[in-house]
Parts: sequence; structure tokens; C-alpha cells
Amino acid sequence: MSALDVTADSGAPASGGAPVSAPPPAISVRHLWHRYGSLDVLRDVSFDVAHGEIFGFIGPNGAGKTTTIRAMATLLEPTAGSVHIDGYDAALDPDEVRKIIGYMPDHAGVYERITVREFLEFFADAYRIPELGVVDAVIELTELAKLSDRLVATLSKGMKQRLQIARTLLHDPKVLVLDEPASDLDPRARIEVRDLLLELRELGKTIFLSSHILTELSDVCTSVGILERGQLVVAGPIGEIAERLAAERGRREPAAPVPPDLAAPLMPPLPAAAEGGAPNFAPEAPPAAVVTPGGAPIPQATRKRLKLRVLGDSQAIVPMLEGGSGVLGVEPGPGGSLSLYYVGGDQYVAEVVRYLVTSGVGLVSVEPERNELERIFLEVTRGDLT
Ligand SMILES: Nc1ncnc2c1ncn2[C@@H]1O[C@H](COP(=O)(O)OP(=O)(O)OP(=O)(O)O)[C@@H](O)[C@H]1O
Ligand SMILES: [Mg+2]
Repeated sequence: MSALDVTADSGAPASGGAPVSAPPPAISVRHLWHRYGSLDVLRDVSFDVAHGEIFGFIGPNGAGKTTTIRAMATLLEPTAGSVHIDGYDAALDPDEVRKIIGYMPDHAGVYERITVREFLEFFADAYRIPELGVVDAVIELTELAKLSDRLVATLSKGMKQRLQIARTLLHDPKVLVLDEPASDLDPRARIEVRDLLLELRELGKTIFLSSHILTELSDVCTSVGILERGQLVVAGPIGEIAERLAAERGRREPAAPVPPDLAAPLMPPLPAAAEGGAPNFAPEAPPAAVVTPGGAPIPQATRKRLKLRVLGDSQAIVPMLEGGSGVLGVEPGPGGSLSLYYVGGDQYVAEVVRYLVTSGVGLVSVEPERNELERIFLEVTRGDLT
């Protein structure tokens, strides 16, 4: 496991009362411990979530995600440590915290024998929200209009999940805390939830969500925390974590120098390099154009890596790729290996391969790598289950 510093204090102590100077983070968890019987299920968990983030809290079953979330939602008094939401201490100011957060528990029950609209009106009443216009606004935002007169009992699981998220929005919370919002959903329902979360982020909400399934989160989260056996092994923006891990890896395994005799001229002529033009093999939209149906941008937090191996010195094909559309970086390695960092899908990879082969490069192997979040996860965890 890597010894990444995930427990550093931010320096600005959150007070029990209203914030006074620099705005506090949306969520600040400090040295959280929790013990059930003789089992320490949380062991010194600390992290911050900045305003406007979509923070994915990832960990296997039993890692302690729900326990952490219940402490954030003022439903569990931790054995030690603190949680502050927007500067308010969850233990000292639970009422304030409840106004700020919209909490969706895992396996939240619904009342079945009322309509969608009645369900939301009931909770609007419970939250003492005076205007019923709020219910209409939430129904519109969550695209439940067509279902508003349906009995809750007749909704699919995905629709019920959407209704649960709608319920958490009624009091216009700044921070959403969602425990496993996408579990048990089919791919389409999961995409719908993802797009809704992205649109809520566009409206200025901070979103904290948990999952034990990595792929649920890789295209929605701007930052992550990975929890294993009650300990946070890494936390922060995905790009930053990837860079820190790469730097650590570099310190552990310095790149081997390329032996001079391997730089032999096995490589055929490189027409594109000779012409000096940057290749254009990006048949897909650039990242900025990737949006949800509602127009919210999907963060490209995860760059992808393609591992190539060519005959001869891979350094020679760097100029062919650098500056090409969709190319984020090119790193030659020893033995003809080369890493191409890019944004795109399978079609993009196929275009790169075609471009290299028609340019006369002796391509030996092409290996698309797992996405960045999966790579981080495999690198920092040991696969331990409690
Ligand atoms: N009320 C309880 N009493 C005793 N032990 C508990 C209680 N609630 C949870 N635990 C234990 O605490 C540990 C962490 O549980 P928690 O529900 O927080 O994990 P989780 O990461 O949310 O898991 P999952 O992905 O299955 O939801 C587990 O070992 C669990 O058995
Ligand atoms: Mg859980």
C-alpha cells in the first residue's frame, strides 16, 4: 500500500458555530473512529470535500462507508473524531447540519400506496416547506412529471431511486449525501442517475456518494476517497492522486536507460513525422463537448493510457503522436514501449493503430489500460475484505 498522506489537517479548524473567516469545506471529516463491540470499523478516517465536488467514497462491502455516512448524517455518534458540514459540527449542531444536507440512506424504503406527488408532498410537509411549488420544481428537475400520478408501488427500482433523490432535494440542501445511489440499477437507470447528479452539481450542490462498484463512479466523480477495512487509503481529486502515485512509482522504480544497441534503425521511415504535421485521428468529440442530455458537462477526470510496443526505438515515434488531437501525453519507455495518454474510446484507439501502421511503424502490441480510477484502486488497495 502506498504511504500517501491522507490525514493532513487543513489548518483551518472548523468551529462548532457559524463560520467566520475563510469558507469551510463542504464536508470535513477528522480522525473519525468507530467501534462496534470489540471491532474498530473506522480507524482514523480524515478527508475534506470542497464545495462543488462530486466525491466518490469507494470501498468493498463492510469497509465502513455507511458508518462514516451515518456520522455525517447526524445519525451515529462516532466513538471519536468529528464531522463538520459547511463548518457546522454534526455532533454539536445536528439541526443545522440536517438543514444543509440531503441524505439518502442505502435501501431507503418508500411508501407504496400513495402517488409520487403525494409522496413528495408528504416529505415537503415533514420538512415544513411552505410552498407546494417546491414539489413541482423538484418533479421537473428529476424528470418525474410523467410519473407524478403513478402509485409508488408501481415504479421500477430506477424510478424509485430517482424519487428518493427527489425527496432529498425538497429542502434545497447544499450538500447531498447519497449512500449507494446506483446499486442494483440497470445500466440505463444508472446513467440517468449519473446525469441527474451532474445536473445537480451544475446547480451548485456538493455531492458525496458511496459505492463498492468502481465503474459506477469513474465518469461522474471529480474526487474520490478509497476506504479499506475502516481506513482511508487515499483521498483527493482523481488527477492529483494519479500524479502522486506516478511520482511515487517513479521514485521506487526509476526508468531503465535504453541500451544503445537497442536504438538500432529497425524503424522504417516515418512519413507523418517527416511532414511535421500533427496527426488528426480524433473521430470523437473533444472532452468539453461531452455533456449530459440536460447539458451538464461530464468531467473528464479520467484520462486513459494506451500501452504500445514498436520495433526499434519508441522515441522515434513520439513526434508522430505528440500534438495529435486527443493526445494528452506521450511517454517512451525501454524496449520499444511507449505510453500514449489520450481521451477517447475504442474507435480512437483503432484510428491510432491505423495511423501508425500506415505510417510504416512496426507495431508489435497494443494494450489499452484500465481507466485511471481502476488503476488507482488496484494500486492503493490490497483487496482486503473485513
Ligand atoms: N449496528 C452494527 N452493529 C455491529 N456491527 C456493525 C453495525 N453496523 C455495521 N457493522 C459492521 O461495521 C462494519 C462496517 O459496516 P458498514 O455498513 O459501514 O460498511 P459498508 O462499507 O457500508 O459496507 P456495504 O458496502 O456492504 O454497504 C462491518 O463489519 C459491519 O458488519
Ligand atoms: Mg453500506
